[in-house]
Amino acid sequence: MRTILITGASGGLAQEMVKLLPNDQLILLGRNKEKLVQLYGNHPYAELIEIDITDDSALETLLADLHLRYDEIDVLVNNAGYGIFEEFDQISDQDIHQMFEVNTFALMNLSRRLAARMKESRKGHIINIVSMAGLIATGKSSLYSATKFAAIGFSNALRLELMPYGVYVTTVNPGPIRTRFFDQADPDGSYLKSVERFLLKPDAVAKKIVKIIGKNKRELNLPMLLNLAHKFYTLFPKLADKLAGETFNYK
Ligand SMILES: NC(=O)c1ccc[n+]([C@@H]2O[C@H](COP(=O)([O-])OP(=O)(O)OC[C@H]3O[C@@H](n4cnc5c(N)ncnc54)[C@H](OP(=O)(O)O)[C@@H]3O)[C@@H](O)[C@H]2O)c1
Repeated sequence: MRTILITGASGGLAQEMVKLLPNDQLILLGRNKEKLVQLYGNHPYAELIEIDITDDSALETLLADLHLRYDEIDVLVNNAGYGIFEEFDQISDQDIHQMFEVNTFALMNLSRRLAARMKESRKGHIINIVSMAGLIATGKSSLYSATKFAAIGFSNALRLELMPYGVYVTTVNPGPIRTRFFDQADPDGSYLKSVERFLLKPDAVAKKIVKIIGKNKRELNLPMLLNLAHKFYTLFPKLADKLAGETFNYK
């Protein structure tokens, strides 16, 4: 039986992943225990943990305890994250610090702590749920993109460091997914409306993620059209900026 730790476990994408993992030992982290119990109280092998993942000493204590009780944590899914789609001058200093704490620093801290153990046991898989916004920057996503570009940079280096030990690091970079993410990112619903036709279904994304658990996959970029857009963006950045700023300026 695999032991899989997932952060942001009460989120839309996490809920769909959990549905596809009925036979695994799950360690589900969230900010609200009641919510976790409501969602996963019936899962036969789920340990539900309320924690503030931005508190690194709380993470340290939790992981020390988990390592006493579980032989190994085989898979870490860093899923917690949120966005605010605003012009850069509408973003506060507090927004900047808080979003980096959740989207980037917590992901780095959990990765480094678990990777150290995985390295010792010469197996393991870290799956970082990042975003297409970490590969392609668009207007009104300066802060969100910065947190996600940083998470990808970290993951890419970590992958190289862990390669000799047989530990895998995968980044998952989806385009817009229909979850409650947009309640906060886009409260008036205008962005959501403009990308309606491209919206990914959370169950479909979850299925693709679950399929690559334990596989040495570098990145999972979804949907295919945005993966192509990412390749184009890398090859022709100036033209891509023009298109992103004009024709495809959905936010
Ligand atoms: N939806 C999209 O369009 C989209 C696209 C690309 C990438 N993503 C990424 O996919 C991941 C999952 O998002 P989702 O679509 O499932 O959205 P979601 O339904 O809003 O779930 C995100 C989860 O992250 C945790 N979280 C949010 N804000 C937090 C905070 N301030 N402190 C700690 N934890 C916080 C929450 O988990 P708890 O309440 O359990 O603590 C929340 O349920 C995120 O990293 C997101 O950036 C989403």
